Amino acid sequence: MMSAMDAVRTIELPRINSPTGSITPVAGGDQVPFEIRRIYFLYDIVSGAHRGGHAHWELEQVYVAVMGAFRVVLDDGRERRTVELNQPAIGLFLPKLIWRELVDFASGTICLVLASLPYDEAEYIRSYDDFLEVATR
Ligand code: TYD
Repeated sequence: MMSAMDAVRTIELPRINSPTGSITPVAGGDQVPFEIRRIYFLYDIVSGAHRGGHAHWELEQVYVAVMGAFRVVLDDGRERRTVELNQPAIGLFLPKLIWRELVDFASGTICLVLASLPYDEAEYIRSYDDFLEVATR
């Protein structure tokens, strides 16, 4: 059976390097397999913080550690997997119905998130028990 975890993948983003610095361009439908409807970024993250702790009904996202490093603990209701992000030109694609927790943030980390939908609290599944019921049915 195809599980949501099978769709999780890292995406190698382009790097345009020059002696004065690097550029990583990202376009929806190209590097990222959806139209980008929203971006947001996490910063000023407190040492020891756990972020995330939810899943989404339909929202797809790509996480990028544009600065620093963190781990993403993923759970599709059947298996658990941890991915470390620590490079600005690597994205982590998460399909719908993946429980995620972001942990072990290095000091100064900036986490960029590309999202397939506008913000909508109704898109969140914030109870792990509810998530398990939906993900394993
Ligand atoms: P949340 O997605 O729960 O943060 P994280 O997963 O990083 O722990 O969002 C935290 C708060 O910010 C929540 O009250 C909703 C608000 N928020 C918005 O208003 N718009 C957004 O696009 C996002 C991502 C969050």
